[in-house]
Parts: sequence; C-alpha cells; structure tokens
Amino acid sequence: MAVEIVMKKGARISLLVLLAAGLWLALKPTAGNRRLTFLPVHWSEYVDFMDFWFNLGAFALLAATAWLAFGTWKKVLGRACLITGFITLLNVMLELLQSSIPGRAMDLADVWAGLLGCVLGIVGSMAVQLMTEGRKSSDGIPQVLFLDQTGRLGGAELMLLDIASARAADSEVVLFQDGEFRSALENAGVKTRVLRLDDEASSVNKQAGLLHVLRSIPGIVQLILQTAQASRSFDVVYANTAKALIIGGPAARLAGRPLIFHLHDIIADGHFSPINQCALIFCANCFADRVIANSEATKDAFVARGGRAELCVVIPNGFHIPEERTNKDDLKKLRFSCLNIPSDAFIVLMAGRLAHWKGQHVLLEALKPMPSAHAVLLGDALFTDEDREYAHRLHAQADESELTGRVHFAGFQSDTLAYFDLADVVVHASVFPEPFGRVIVEGMLAGKPVIASRAGGAAEIVSHEHTGLLVDPGNVNELAEALMRLQHDSAFAARLALNAQQTARDVYALPAVQRQIENLIRKAGKYKTDPIPGTDTAPSATQAA
Ligand code: UDP
Ligand code: GLC
Repeated sequence: MAVEIVMKKGARISLLVLLAAGLWLALKPTAGNRRLTFLPVHWSEYVDFMDFWFNLGAFALLAATAWLAFGTWKKVLGRACLITGFITLLNVMLELLQSSIPGRAMDLADVWAGLLGCVLGIVGSMAVQLMTEGRKSSDGIPQVLFLDQTGRLGGAELMLLDIASARAADSEVVLFQDGEFRSALENAGVKTRVLRLDDEASSVNKQAGLLHVLRSIPGIVQLILQTAQASRSFDVVYANTAKALIIGGPAARLAGRPLIFHLHDIIADGHFSPINQCALIFCANCFADRVIANSEATKDAFVARGGRAELCVVIPNGFHIPEERTNKDDLKKLRFSCLNIPSDAFIVLMAGRLAHWKGQHVLLEALKPMPSAHAVLLGDALFTDEDREYAHRLHAQADESELTGRVHFAGFQSDTLAYFDLADVVVHASVFPEPFGRVIVEGMLAGKPVIASRAGGAAEIVSHEHTGLLVDPGNVNELAEALMRLQHDSAFAARLALNAQQTARDVYALPAVQRQIENLIRKAGKYKTDPIPGTDTAPSATQAA
C-alpha cells in the first residue's frame, strides 16, 4: 500500500515536471522580442535556428503528459485524436499570440512541428506504458495469456478449456466475446476477462471481403493495443483462433512476448476467403514462434498456402477418458422420455454444431431409405446467421414425409456422454475437409462404430475397416450403404468399435497432449525448467493401428 502511494506520488511529480517542461518550451516564443534573453546571444540565435525541433519536442512532451494523465487503453484512437486536436489548437493559439508580438510572425512550420511532436509524444508514452507494465511473478512456470475470439463452445474452445484448466493458476484467458465459454472457464477456476471486439470487426467472418475487412481496422487496432497491454503481464501469448491470431500476433510483438498459435482450421477455400487466408498466413509467419496444427491435414494446408513449415508441429486434440459411462436407467430416460425414440430403432448420432459444411443434411438424406433408423442431432447453430438459416432448413428437411418422427434435435448439451452411449453408430459427414473432428474420437471412446468423411483430419483418425468406415464427403449413397452394413452386420460393427476404442485411448488421452503443449509453452517462454517428461510428438492413429 505504502509503495503504491509513493509510486502514485512519484508519477504525479513526473507528470508535473513533464507538463512544466513542455509548457516552458512551447511558450518560449512569447518570452520577448528576442527569445530566452537570459541566454548568451549566440545560444539564443541557435535556439531560434532550431525552432522546428524545439516545437516538436515541446508538443511531444505536452502530448505525452496528456496521454499519461488522461489516456486510457479504452477508446484509444478516440483519445489519441482528441489529444492531438487539443494540442494542435493550443499550438495554433500560441502562434497567433506570437504574431501579436512586434517583430514576430506566425510560423506554420511550427504548427506542423507541433503536430508531429504530438504524434511522437503519444506513441512514445504508449511505448513507455507498455514497457513499464510488469510481468506477473512466475515461479518457474510460464504465465500464459490465452486468446480466443468466441464466447461459444466449439471444438477449439473445448480443447482450450482443457489446456487452460490444467494450468489454471498460471493462466488467464481473454475472450473477444462473452458467452457460455466464459462460464465454463470460470467454473474450471480459470481467470477470464472479455475484451470486446466492436461490431464491425466481430462481424468479419471466414468469407469477408476486402471492404468489410478495411472497415474493421479501427476496432482491430484498438483491441490490439488493449491486448498488448494485457500481454505485458504474461510470459507467453497463446492465440487459439484465427481472429485471436490477427489481434494477438501484433499485440504479442508490441509487448515483446513470444506467441504460440493453435491452428484448429484448415486454411483453404471453403473455410476462408482469399484475403483472410493471406492475413492468417502473414500473421502466423510474422508473429508466431510456434504453430500447433491439430492434424497433418491442417498443417499441409497451412504450408500449401505459404505458411512456414518449420514453425509447425502437429498435436491432436486430447480427451478425458471417462471412468464410468451412462447407467441403464439414465439411458432409458434419455431414449424414451427426452427423445421419444422407439425401442427397436437403430440410433444414428451426429454431434456437433449445425452448419452446412458439417453435412447434417447428408445424413438425413442417407436415412430416407432406412425406415428403422432414427437420427439424433446433438448441437446447435453456434456462430453465424448462415448456420442459423441452415438449422431452419434442416428442420424443414426433417419434416419431409420419409423422415417424419425419425429426426430428433437435441440442441446444445454441455454433457454429451449419454448421447454417445445411447447411439448404435456415430456419424461424421462434413462436406469440406474436417480439420480434426473431436466428435469422431468421442464416438470411438464411447465404444461405438463410427463412419467419417474421407478428408482432412477425419481420414487420419479413422483407419478404414479397422477402426471405422470412411465414405466420400457428401456422398449420400455411400453413407447409406455404410450405415446399412453396420446395422446388419453387428459382429463387424462390434469389431470396429472395439478397435476404435483401444486406438482412441492410446492416441488421444488428454494428459499426453497436455504435456506436449506445456513443453512448447516452456520452450517458447525460454524457461530453464526441464521439459515435462513425456513424448514430444504424439503417436498417430495410423501408427497405433
Ligand atoms: N459438443 C457439445 N455439445 C453439443 C454438441 C457438440 O459439447 O451439444 C461438442 C462435441 O462433443 C465436440 C465439440 O462440441 O467435442 C465439437 O468439436 P468438433 O471438433 O467435432 O467440431 P467443431 O464444432 O469444433 O468444428
Ligand atoms: C475446430 C475444427 C474441428 C476441430 C476443433 C478442435 O473447431 O473445426 O475440426 O476438431 O477445432 O481442434
């Protein structure tokens, strides 16, 4: 407390000294017909000769003082404009005053010097603010600031929830949007704060065009500065999503902190617009010390678009392996009371957000010729208006006569275990390459036969006819055939399920994945502490198979 008061007093005195120095320099032209009369003549002439630079210095000092006294990181650009405007007005008034002194005239160059000085003052004082913001004390364990753009719970967020909660005491999460993700983090004991991205910037989606991106720049700059200031208190910045990289990259650089980028997306057409692809690759190449790709497919796409391969390491998602599964009574309740599914039905589970590229419509088409099959769609439209429109279309599709009463929308559930336990088969049907596909591993861990799209990370997780079945993305007939095969050949289905469960336990156990990520964090933070024992690279599903 005492230290704080002394520091506050010190800061106030420094501000007064700065203000006095700035005003003295700025007001010097009014000191008389000839400036600084107390100086020897040749010094005074020298001061006159250096007028531009003195003005620049004076207004830099004044702007810096104003910034430090009134500038906050909130509404940074607005404050900067206000301060610049105010100081320039002051400068013009001083020049006018000067022109009333006999023998002196207004000098426009001085106004320019003032303007330039003002900008330098603001930038300089921002830099001072950044440099003086201390690091958190770190007892050998790097303090990590995680960044994520969304407040909703998608797969990338569920992975971050596990990573951050395992090191809750040494982490903080910044979200650019509020939502249930914040509650989940806080419930897990992870300190979380929301730095909101303004509406223009947060509406930039994966398909955004150049104009939309340009309009979002002021909001982005403001958030970068806020994030840079927050980053100063940490050893490592960890961006978990694309927008988190765009903000966190420059912010980490400004704050002088290493950046890890966890890449959960396939950077390619269909997932991102060309301009967004360029921006992501540029930021990753420029700012990231490490890129964690969630699959080989994600890494390959990153490298194919110009991403630096040497930055990239592949670490799959990790999963808790539940010791107990759902008991029979709860399963019955879910089946009959909650979902109203007849006892002889063949239950096909598709879990994940409702979005066109996730291909729920493909599954519904494939179920049309299978009258005893019921689909349970677990999840909701999470991110965009397009997703919400798609969800409406899915409801309309489910009402078609061939499907009536056979499609059950379960909505988003935070506890999904019972749904997997209820299923006879788990389907993944993305029509674009899936970067990883957590739901596939969750189906395998539940001991269920899985069918997945033969593309992206999904094709790395599933070994065809050994741990599941792969079908071509969007191919309704092939999916229907695979479903019928599993429905009618229960021995084959059971064999696949057993192999799948074993493989998933070997390859995707959370502790091993957490160790690999922690080791990367320690290396990025340049910590002398030994890496945590454990493998540096995870075995792949194919190796395990
Ligand atoms: N999920 C959930 N509740 C739901 C539906 C899905 O918790 O109602 C989870 C699901 O279990 C999985 C994640 O959301 O862990 C989705 O991750 P995935 O990688 O499959 O796809 P993403 O949505 O991240 O692209
Ligand atoms: C993203 C991807 C998904 C992946 C998840 C976790 O949401 O779309 O495929 O499983 O991140 O890495």
